[in-house]
Amino acid sequence: PAPVSALIDRLVRPIEDWPVPGVTFRDITPLLADPEALRLVVDALVDVARTTGPIDAVLGIEARGFIFAPAIALELNAGFVPIRKAGKLPSTSFTTSYDLEYGSAELEMHRDALQPGDRVLVVDDVLATGGTMLAAADLVQQAGAQVAGNIVLIEIQALGGQEKLHPVGGSALRTY
Ligand code: PRP
Ligand code: MG
Repeated sequence: PAPVSALIDRLVRPIEDWPVPGVTFRDITPLLADPEALRLVVDALVDVARTTGPIDAVLGIEARGFIFAPAIALELNAGFVPIRKAGKLPSTSFTTSYDLEYGSAELEMHRDALQPGDRVLVVDDVLATGGTMLAAADLVQQAGAQVAGNIVLIEIQALGGQEKLHPVGGSALRTY
């Protein structure tokens, strides 16, 4: 495999039956703790981000999207916009509800975070069922902006998230 996908194989730790039975949690903390791996993964995400055309903002989804989105935004000379779990943002926000692989929840984004017509990248660590990425796309749509790309480290193909992400789809560094 290519170097980055091999790094992910080596340094992202599958934890069976966590947080609930039947779910395999992809633990990225060993990768984050390795400076060389962290650099290579961020560089690879930036390479993917650069294929999506001009970008006005990079959106990260709380919590694990926050680790990578600002690093990508800095390289693209774009701003970073947080998409947060419900009740965390202080100003007027758009809200959307979504289903998770385990449970359901709401995501929010400040109403003034994007301008109509903005082209944005959505960044997260894992694409599983796609519920989270789809919720982010809904927030972008509520703002009148446009998703230019959905970027993740890892895609769990069997959960079918890719099919939910029209028209741009999702780009992953490693697919399982
Ligand atoms: C995890 C992961 C993705 C999402 C993927 O987040 O970080 O955001 O699930 O699942 P989906 O494609 O089925 O929606 P989670 O909400 O569990 O927690 P976090 O706050 O640690 O990121
Ligand atoms: Mg998450």
